[in-house]
Amino acid sequence: MNGESKQQLIMYLLFCIILPLISQVLGNSNCDNASNERNHYVIETLADNFVAPYQLAFDANTNTLFFSYTVEKAKRYFKIVYMDVNTKEKGEVTGIPDGFAQTVDTRNHIVYMGGRNGIYQFDYKTKSANSLNITKESIWQMFFKDYLYYTTIYPDEVAYVYKNGVVSKVQQLENIKTLLIAVDNNNNIYYSNSSGLFVLDNANVTENIGEYNINGFTSDVKGNLYFSTTSEIYSIVTKNTVKKIADLNDDVHGVAIDADGNYIYSTYESVKRLKVEATNCS
Ligand SMILES: *[C@@H]1O[C@H](CO)[C@@H](O)[C@H](O)[C@H]1NC(C)=O
Ligand SMILES: *[C@@H]1O[C@H](CO)[C@@H](O)[C@H](O)[C@H]1NC(C)=O
Ligand SMILES: *[C@@H]1O[C@H](CO)[C@@H](O)[C@H](O)[C@H]1NC(C)=O
Ligand SMILES: *[C@@H]1O[C@H](CO)[C@@H](O)[C@H](O)[C@H]1NC(C)=O
Repeated sequence: MNGESKQQLIMYLLFCIILPLISQVLGNSNCDNASNERNHYVIETLADNFVAPYQLAFDANTNTLFFSYTVEKAKRYFKIVYMDVNTKEKGEVTGIPDGFAQTVDTRNHIVYMGGRNGIYQFDYKTKSANSLNITKESIWQMFFKDYLYYTTIYPDEVAYVYKNGVVSKVQQLENIKTLLIAVDNNNNIYYSNSSGLFVLDNANVTENIGEYNINGFTSDVKGNLYFSTTSEIYSIVTKNTVKKIADLNDDVHGVAIDADGNYIYSTYESVKRLKVEATNCS
């Protein structure tokens, strides 16, 4: 090897191996400041070819995901799918006309479902839904936190709570249109309507959190709240502040959280799982 090519080799090593190493080591000292830009997403498709999967709910007791989707035949109607996210085994829930909404009471192992004719309970053995005969209303969304909260479809958009065997309107929201509802560990009630996202606290004070175009609320196993907009996922950090978790650059229809804290979200025709992993910070 002559002197010139030796020099070239050294330059090559410097640029291709040593400099990246140095910047990686420097980069690692920035890990305290890890932000979304420093995280990367690992996205796995769980289900495909379902039109507009919506109202996702995850049962951590059985690792089962529930979502509804739209069937466009002579008439448009809705169906609910159950899916074991470990085995990927899935199927349609029977016994519920226009099945649309679902939520899980994790402590008591009850999966609630809502459809055109009221509220049902899912039976894992038969994969069917049995009416609870507590309402005949058409259900839009449901959320379980100590009690079963639910909303009815447009144009009514009324918030109800099913508590100790009795259904009643959520009194504080009696004259307010409510599309989606959720409750946090401090019993603050979050709701969204065409005017935005609001929180109603225990002193009955309402605050506007922002004009988010929300399509789903969910909670993790600890009861922390999250919501999705048409392309992003947020967490609710304190009573009235939110933090963006992920900008998916995709057409998001809803979100749920699996037992390991990963985000499961739907797009126009699929359901995906998002793992957020820190880069250079291991
Ligand atoms: C972390 O961010 C803060 C505030 O932006 C900045 O002052 C600090 O220098 C950053 N630390 C590192 C290691 O980059
Ligand atoms: C609801 O009513 C149906 C029809 O009368 C009945 O078969 C079913 O057992 C009832 N469900 C409950 C939970 O009571
Ligand atoms: C939505 O909720 C806010 C806050 O409670 C309320 O001021 C507004 O009137 C509601 N919008 C509708 C259409 O009811
Ligand atoms: C909040 O409103 C509800 C229903 O209107 C009422 O029952 C409750 O006492 C109120 N709470 C406070 C702290 O004023």
